[in-house]
Order: sequence, then C-alpha cells, then structure tokens
Amino acid sequence: MQSFNFYIPVKIKFGVGLWEKIPEESYSLGAKRVLLVTGKKHLKDSGILDQLLKLYNNYPIDIFIFDNVPPEPPYYVVDEGANLAKSKNVDLVIGIGGGSALDVAKAIAIKVNLPGSIWDYIGEKSDKITIKGIPSILVPTTAGTASEVTRVSVLINPETKEKLSIRNDFLYATLALIDPYLTLSLPHEITAHSGIDAFIHSLESFLSINSNMITEPLALTALRTIYKYLPRVYENLNRLDLREKILYASTVSGIAFTQTGLGGIHAIAHPIGVYANIPHGLACALVTLPVLEYNLEILSKEKLSALGRALGVYSLRGAKNKIIKKIEEFFSLLGIKLGLRNYGIKWNILPILAQEAPKTGSYKTNPRALNYEVVLDILKKAF
Ligand SMILES: [Fe+2]
Repeated sequence: MQSFNFYIPVKIKFGVGLWEKIPEESYSLGAKRVLLVTGKKHLKDSGILDQLLKLYNNYPIDIFIFDNVPPEPPYYVVDEGANLAKSKNVDLVIGIGGGSALDVAKAIAIKVNLPGSIWDYIGEKSDKITIKGIPSILVPTTAGTASEVTRVSVLINPETKEKLSIRNDFLYATLALIDPYLTLSLPHEITAHSGIDAFIHSLESFLSINSNMITEPLALTALRTIYKYLPRVYENLNRLDLREKILYASTVSGIAFTQTGLGGIHAIAHPIGVYANIPHGLACALVTLPVLEYNLEILSKEKLSALGRALGVYSLRGAKNKIIKKIEEFFSLLGIKLGLRNYGIKWNILPILAQEAPKTGSYKTNPRALNYEVVLDILKKAF
C-alpha cells in the first residue's frame, strides 16, 4: 500500500508559437512592471528578445531586463536581481532561457520578500521560506532541467565550491509557458546535454524512494520518449515535431521528479559540475552507469521489468547488464565521451567529491543507501 502527496500548482501552457503571448500573459496577470531574467547570449542572438520587446509596446507595461545570468549561476546573482526588482517595484518576474535563467528567475521572485541573502535559504534551510514571492512566468529555451514546473532552484557558492538547491513550494511558477519553437535553434551539444539531464531526471524519479503510483508512469513515459527520440533529434536538429516530443518529455519528467526527488547520480554530479566546470547533463552522464549498477542490485523484479521495457529490454534474464549496455549506447549516440579523467578531474580530488555529495537533497532519495565509501567507489569506476 502506498501513501503520498502530489502537489503542482503551476498552470502549464504548451504549444508552438506561445512565446509571442508572453506580453499578453503578463497583462492578464495584472503586471505593470516586469523584470525579464535571461542569459547573456541566446535570446539576443536569436532575435527573440527584440521581437518580445516590440510586442510589449502594445501593453501598458514597463519592462526591465536582467541578463546577468551565467551558466551555473552563483547565489549572489539572485541577490542582485532581487535588489533590482525591489528598486524598480516590479510586480512580475519572467524567466526565459535555459535552466540557469529559470532557476535564477524563480529565486528572485521569492527573494524579493525575504531578508538576507538567498544563500541563507539553501539546502536544509529552505524550510525557512514561509512567505510567497511575486508571481512568475517561466519560459524554457532548452529541454532538460524542467525548472519551469519544479519547486527547485540550483545555485552555486563559488567561495565554498558548493552546488546546492533551494526546494520549496513557493518556488513554483505561476505560469509555465512551454514552446518547442524556442528549442529549435539549440546546437548539438546543448541538445544532447540537456536531453540527457531530462532522461536522468526520469530515471532517478522512477528509482527514487519516493516514487509513487502517480509519478512512476510519468517517469517511465518520459524515459521511453527521450530514449527513443533524443538520438533522432540529435541527427535532425531542425525537426520541430521531434523537438516537441523531447520538450514534452522533459516537462513530464519535471512533474515527476519535483514530487519524488532525484538520487545518487545528481548527488555526485553536483560537485563534479563545480570542480570540472562542465555542463550539468554531461556531469550526470559521467556517473550514471556506476550509480545505476549499484542501484539495480536492489531493484524489485517489477521495477526492473518496467525499466527494461522502457529501454527495449524485454526479458528479465540478464536485464541489469542489458539496461546498462542500452544506456551506454544511448550516450554514445549522443556523442558523450565517458571518463571523469577526460574532463580535468584528478584522481586525488575524488575523496573531496565524495565528501560533498551528501550535502545535496538528492543523496537521501537514492533507492539504495549511499555512504562515503560507496560514493568513492562509484567515482573511481567513473574515472
Ligand atoms: Fe538535473
């Protein structure tokens, strides 16, 4: 018998061309002064920012741009954005971009009403957030983090070299506007890395100790869809119909994992991301196989069978090895070169990475208990 909660208070609007409705949606929410949070390049280079600003001219809305969001955003970017939002008396935050821009946007929306620095609310301290922020609209331009539908914001602290998350129901967006058209111009590497992130969200949600009757079919659907279509997108970057499938699957995986939490892959990938300074999806891929080998040992036959079927493994005989092999091939089709040693990670920092992993929330929801020795062993296998 199961007992669980499921809560996702985000209005989702999904469809090609919806990005042009952002000003109209802002107006519908009663906004008069909007902070638009984005990264430095993508939105400008694609010309979408200019077109968006033109569309805003049709509405009585003042718009302020905060394009100071780097990949792997440090916490003080949120503090800066929140100060700007307060000084301009902003009543709506719009995040448009990859996971970093969206994570920063949603954190700014709650930080406006919180004292201190956003880092005061990181990790275990997220429960200190007891008041809601201002409304937010999140618009993804990559298909991977699913930040637009989650209660999570991932930030780094460059001084302490920590990469941790705030997890709180107040981080949910008011509206997630999800438009496959915006993912059409993504190059090969970002398509692969962000899609792999979504794949691993599905996998870890499915395996999580909190997986339940609602999240399990969602996670499996996302997993199956990404497994089937991501290599095809990788070969056909301009196919909007395939982009739609991956963005849909990323959204579904987000709805699942924001309820269940993730697992060992994310717990170990976070410190790797900080130390190697590599994209998050790639950092996840580098430890997926040894973490999965460890987890599959305790998986029930029912779950092993369901996971296998999603990946085209239809018999329980030798299923564990076949599943590992399928995922290895999947990474290879996406141009992923495994081996931590290939990304500037030195053997002697593996113990530091193993010490950092338990600080993440994902560590606790792994289906099989982790400890320092186990994580160090996984890192050595991934080296
Ligand atoms: Fe992730």
